[in-house]
Amino acid sequence: MKAMGPIPAGYEASEDGSLAVGGRPVARWIEEAGRTPLFLYDRERIAAKVAIFREEMPARVKLHYAVKANPHGALLEAMAGMVDGFDLASRGELARVAALSVALPLSMAGPGKSDADLEAALRDGVTIHLESEGEAARALALGKALDITPIVAVRVNPPFALKGAGMKMGGLSSQFGLDSDRVPALVKHLVAQGADWRGYHVYAGSQSLSADALIESQRATLDLIEELGAATGEVPMEVNLGGGFGIPYFPGDVPLDSASVGKALGERLDALPKVYTDTRFILELGRWLVGEAGVYLTRVIDRKVSHGRTFLVTDGGLQHMLAASGNFGQLLRRNYPIANATRFAAAAAMEASVVGRLCTPLDLLGDEVELPHTEVGDVIALFCAGAYGLSASPAGFLSQPEAKELLVP
Ligand SMILES: Cc1ncc(COP(=O)(O)O)c(C=O)c1O
Repeated sequence: MKAMGPIPAGYEASEDGSLAVGGRPVARWIEEAGRTPLFLYDRERIAAKVAIFREEMPARVKLHYAVKANPHGALLEAMAGMVDGFDLASRGELARVAALSVALPLSMAGPGKSDADLEAALRDGVTIHLESEGEAARALALGKALDITPIVAVRVNPPFALKGAGMKMGGLSSQFGLDSDRVPALVKHLVAQGADWRGYHVYAGSQSLSADALIESQRATLDLIEELGAATGEVPMEVNLGGGFGIPYFPGDVPLDSASVGKALGERLDALPKVYTDTRFILELGRWLVGEAGVYLTRVIDRKVSHGRTFLVTDGGLQHMLAASGNFGQLLRRNYPIANATRFAAAAAMEASVVGRLCTPLDLLGDEVELPHTEVGDVIALFCAGAYGLSASPAGFLSQPEAKELLVP
């Protein structure tokens, strides 16, 4: 038997012993969707996370949703009523958000923005987070050609990383942002060229469960902002402090102590010089808001034994949940939380490997996990499926049926 990650708190069995999501047995949602594989995103769980953010973070810190974590339309619509802005990575994401017709602040970050990305951002009043001098030159030129003043911020490649993060994006040479020593010259140039320069974006890493590491990285970010202020003589209207709040996926992972992060951030912001009184501070979060609200449901099609090992072959696979298979940047494959959703209340009775139907042994959703007695027709639930699930998976591989998605209201 191999351990699995912790099932997020609050998932319980319904009266019939099956897993309940949003107060209803999963079979009801599958009926509504018409079939498995199915992603359920529970709106109430997302709202509860947003409420925690509002309670724990300093009141002056705005919350932006990183659309890349989950761009599902109904989920975005729900988010629009909860957050203060959207962080975009492409004009495709911009189109999804624009379809909501809500007037929230938007920013676009990411290397390699094409002229079409920049033009879409300019036309829609998106704050463009510039990743290089070259990108800045193109944004300025396009702005001139379209007679639109570009709204811009400079993304800084910080001289430090978010320690222990699942993904470090700082303290090294990088395609993200400008090395901090080159930032002052670009800011002065943007201001001189008449761009609507808003401030800075510093993103040091993702998926951190360490409050201490986040506190240290946020402090270092604010130190850096003050240094840039001294070097440029300009006060930013806006500082995007990045994010990096993680969720437990694997055995031994413990939830982030976000209250401590909020407290320390409040103290550091209070210590800023007066000139920053009107500066808008932003945290952009994806997985911490939506990750644990998602459950991926896939039905067992076959049960077989090979060399003494039991396999449960499902109608899903890594083409929908690449990260759970261990192939989305993990160095070591470990089990996501997984359960038999049909018999959620039943005690463990067997060890099995849950696989999909792709032509590769990488298509492993649960490796030698402990499950209740499981039969063909049962539904398997993979948790932590709300972020970097379907949109971060190779959905076209083997042309298997697409997964459905439902927002649980
Ligand atoms: C610039 C930027 N913002 C936000 C995010 C969202 O990260 P997470 O979903 O871990 O909060 C990422 C993730 O890669 C990112 O690169």
